[in-house]
Amino acid sequence: MEPWSREWKQHQLDLLYAAWENCQGCELHQTRKKLVFGEGNPDADILFIGEAPGEHEDKSGRPFVGDSGKLFDSMWCGALGQSREDIYITNIVACKPPKNRDPIAVEKDQCLPRVQEIIYIVDPLLIVSVGKFALNTLTSGRSWGIEKQHGRMFSSPHPTIKVGGEHNGVEIPGRVFPRKESDKSIHTLEYDLVPVFHTSYILRTDSYDTNANQFPKGGVAHQTLDDLQAVVKRVEQLKREYKDIPRIVERM
Ligand code: URA
Repeated sequence: MEPWSREWKQHQLDLLYAAWENCQGCELHQTRKKLVFGEGNPDADILFIGEAPGEHEDKSGRPFVGDSGKLFDSMWCGALGQSREDIYITNIVACKPPKNRDPIAVEKDQCLPRVQEIIYIVDPLLIVSVGKFALNTLTSGRSWGIEKQHGRMFSSPHPTIKVGGEHNGVEIPGRVFPRKESDKSIHTLEYDLVPVFHTSYILRTDSYDTNANQFPKGGVAHQTLDDLQAVVKRVEQLKREYKDIPRIVERM
């Protein structure tokens, strides 16, 4: 298998999944039905990262299904001109928190190495964070508000993804890369990141007009479509910049 080919990336993701599928790293494993690892194109240009699974995700083991999934598949994929199979989707936390509360620090810290490995394997052109929690986690514990930040192109400063070595003193269980035993280096990769409103926030805030078959103009659903159209433009630009260059090599 050619390293960094689609087939190779899928294989790496399969290995990573095998390392995490029975994770008992935090208390969420006691109440989850299914761990929601992530799914999609292992070689995607765009990686979506949400917060945590909800009830439907917990039952199915898949990210963004249920009402959030409908919004995702129809409006969001429509704006991107891509299908769900073209992109990769995961969450900061892989197991459903009770009563859909925000994940707490220990849950996030335990699960973040999995997200970082996924980012490393997929090596997307751009990351879309869904909601405030994912944005603030990926920008190293900031406390941005999503109302002001949504649609912003975080190209500088980049969110920094650290892979390799240890995370919070914990060796990554899913470490699958053929690195030298002695190589304890931490590779710092930088990705463009665009935050968007959380699907649940959109569904709560905008009331869908069933007569007109659409969300109200100017509401958060439509603002998100604008944000995603900006994502498409930026991805096209990055594709031109990275043409013929294996991105991961260029970035390390
Ligand atoms: N569904 C997910 O998988 N993640 C979210 O953050 C919201 C809904």
